[in-house]
This record gives sequence, structure tokens and C-alpha cells, in this order.
Amino acid sequence: MVSCAPHRIARVYRSAPFVRTAAAGCALLVLTLTGCDGGVRGTPGGTGVHDPYFPRAGNGGYDVSHYGLTLDYDPDRRHLTGTAVVTARATKDLSAFDLDLSGLDVHSVTVAGKAAWFSRAGQELTVRPHDDLLKGETFSATVRYSGRPQVVVDPDGSREGWLPTADGALALGEPVGSMAWFPGNNHPSDKAAYDIAVTVPEGLRAVSNGELRSETTSGGRTTFRWRTAEPMASYLAMVAIGRFEITRSTTRSGLPVYVAVQPSQARESRAVLARIPEVVEWAERRFGPFPFSSTGAVVGRGEDSGYALETQNRPVFPGAPDIGTLVHELAHQWFGDSVTPKSWRDMWLNEAFATYAQWLWEEDHGGRTAQQAFDALLRGDYFTDDAANEAVWAFPPARPSGADHISDRPVYERGAAVLHRIRQAVGDRAFQDIVRGWAAAHRHGNADTADFTAYVEKKAPDTDFTGIWADWLYGDGRPAGP
Ligand code: TRP
Ligand code: ZN
Repeated sequence: MVSCAPHRIARVYRSAPFVRTAAAGCALLVLTLTGCDGGVRGTPGGTGVHDPYFPRAGNGGYDVSHYGLTLDYDPDRRHLTGTAVVTARATKDLSAFDLDLSGLDVHSVTVAGKAAWFSRAGQELTVRPHDDLLKGETFSATVRYSGRPQVVVDPDGSREGWLPTADGALALGEPVGSMAWFPGNNHPSDKAAYDIAVTVPEGLRAVSNGELRSETTSGGRTTFRWRTAEPMASYLAMVAIGRFEITRSTTRSGLPVYVAVQPSQARESRAVLARIPEVVEWAERRFGPFPFSSTGAVVGRGEDSGYALETQNRPVFPGAPDIGTLVHELAHQWFGDSVTPKSWRDMWLNEAFATYAQWLWEEDHGGRTAQQAFDALLRGDYFTDDAANEAVWAFPPARPSGADHISDRPVYERGAAVLHRIRQAVGDRAFQDIVRGWAAAHRHGNADTADFTAYVEKKAPDTDFTGIWADWLYGDGRPAGP
């Protein structure tokens, strides 16, 4: 491996003793070079993965296999100190690569144990390793950072990132908020395993994804070590810090259930949360085996996020959920968390299935059938509010009209109507096979709309889906009806 002289890449660096500053022109120059004096083969990895809605999310040139995050949070000062060890494989020869990180101060970056040069521009933390990385090489980058983590406001105005709460914090990341609390390849197409250790003042608890491996207190501070072994997209990573009440149980099949509830919500949420095993067992019959090694929930106070999120293993709820919302977020464990969209354009694959799961739950529990829900949607009396009924048809589910609309009604209810149209076309038995088969075929992977339509066509070769795709999935306006 070869290396370039450090002065060639320096741009604007912060607070690291080993970095140098040089003219911006010099930095520009190196990005256009394919080699330097030392015979560099690598080129920069790129600032994004061309997501149609979030072009700067994620980065090119590498594939992360593991994040080791060591976080220390002081709620009084709202101060986060972090070390992230990102283990990745280079997918091309790299002279530099980017991580996504928004806000916070970076103190040092090492790659393969050697100090690396780094610069920051917006959410891009550009790292230039001492030695070029070769295609296929596995490397670890260690980033030390600290500061007051930010709230990220989405294009649609919702708040994610690191949300301060009355006694702690709630870290949420759909679609891009994880960059507010750790550096990474912040795009759903690059899933990885995680070890997340969080140290908080004694008396508070830190809850995250996966399983709790240890809890140790010393000198008035407690460290919670969480491990997520199954692949997880960065938007599903979560940390909740607060005075939680913890309840542990297991489903009949032995799946551990870990539930954390803010004491103020305990009474109101007890009955619904006690149904988690029942909902998971129902969903396993409908969708196949639960894809992860534990489940549960985190219930906060309403004002913290204002919305529920399907964070992996254990979804987060802003307060005591109703049974429909619980079903929705747990169904996402199969659809979204295990089978993850390739890009944010494929968001309907998450929300259509999670919404359809609610329809199926009602149908299986003596309520409205999915057919009745579908009819109400078409008639325009699904919601009590006329504007909401109209908004269902605002754009095609597979083509949201902008980044500020990826969680609008067409992605949810009109997406669910697409699934119901498939069910009408193939019948209940074949539909059940398609739903289970889809979850199995892409388990712990990524998929897009084209993968889905191809899968459905393969499973039902005698059915012509052309009209369903054209009118319901890709077409503008309200389809005329089945
Ligand atoms: N995915 C969440 C759900 O349906 C909703 C949500 C919360 C969301 N924040 C978002 C959707 C940001 C898109 C973008 O349960
Ligand atoms: Zn959802």
C-alpha cells in the first residue's frame, strides 16, 4: 500500500493535533487526481449513494459490517462523548471515504490504527487514511467525537436525531437522523451489526436495539451494553435514556421481550404492552418466524417524538399505543427492518405492509375485513376527515412526490390498497404465500419495488398484474376501482 503526502488533501480541519491546513485549491486538486507522487491507485469513495430523495445520505466505496459505539451522555449538560469503531470492506480502491456525521466535534480519526486526515463539509466527514485501502480489504475506522448532539428536522418537519427529553434523551433516525449521534454509512442499503454501549448517570437507564449484554455501575455512572447481531439499517438504530420501568417476558416460542416504559405512562400502557407476545405470535402465523433475536417496546412521554417508530427489535412509542399502532410497528420488524428498502423511494414497501397488517389484524379479530377497509378507502370514508380521504390519492405509492412526502398517506393506505388488489387477483391462499415468501426471500436484506413486482409475478405466473402496477402502484390519481 502506498500513501500520499498529507498536505495534498488538507482542507478545513478542526481540533486535531495531527491535521494540517492548506489552500482550498489544493484540496480540490486532489479530488480530481487519480494518482499522486506515491502512485496512489485509490480514488475517493463518494459523498452519497444516489438516493433519489436523500442524495447525500450514505457514502460510496465501502460496505459496513459492524459499528462499535461507545457513548457517554450527560443529560444535564446535554453533552455526548462518543467513540465509533466502524468496520467495513472497501468495494473499490480508496484514497478517501466519507462518513455521515452532522454537528458534534471530531477529535481524531484513525484507520487501521494509524492517524488519518479528515475534513468536514455539511454532513460529510471525509476521511483520508494514511494508506490507501484496496478493494476487498476490511478496515476499521475509529472516530472520537463529542458535543451537543442535534435535533434533525426532516423535509416534512418531523423531528429526529438526538431529542432531549425531561430526564434523558431519545435518539431516532428515520430517515437520516442517526448522523446526529454517530458517524456512519447512513443509508438503508448498508445494514450492519451493532454493539452500542451507553454510559449514563446512575439511576437512569439506557435502552437500545438487540439484547442487553451487561449493566455495570462504578463511580456513580452506569454502562449498558447492547448487542444487535442481525443486520440493522442505521435509521432503525435507537437509544433511549431515562427513568424507565423495565418488564421482561418471553413469547411462547421463547423470544425474549424487553419493555421499557416511562413511569408516567406505565398504568395506561400496561394492558396493551402485555399483548406484545400475542401480537408477535399472530404475526408469525401471518408473516413467518420473527426475524430477530428479541423484541419489546420503548414508551416515552408524548412530547419526545410525537410519532411511533419501528426501531429494530423494540419500536418506540410516544405514549401508550393503541393496539393498531402496536400491530403496525411490530409488523415493520418483518417489513422494513428485516426486508429493508434499497432506497427511500421504496418506503411504501414498509408502510403498505405495516398498514395491511393492521387491516389483517382487524379481519382476524372479528373487526372490519381488509375488503371493507379497501372499500372505505375507495368510497372516501376511510378517515373521518375529507381532506385525509382525498390525500390518499395524491401521488403513486412507488413515486412519492418529494422527500417531504415519503411518509404521506399514499405510501401507507394507497400502498395497502396495492397489496389488497394483489390479494383480489390471486386469492387468499396465494396471497398468504406471497406475503410470507416475500419476507423469507429478502430476510435481513434489501429490496426495491422492481424486486417486489418481479416476485409477485413469479409466484403467480398465470395472473396479469400489468393493470394493477400501472394504475395502483405507478399511476396518478384515484384508480377507477377493481
Ligand atoms: N415509519 C413510522 C411509522 O410508520 C413513521 C415515521 C416516523 C416516519 N418518522 C418518519 C416515516 C420519518 C418517514 C419518515 O411507524
Ligand atoms: Zn409505519
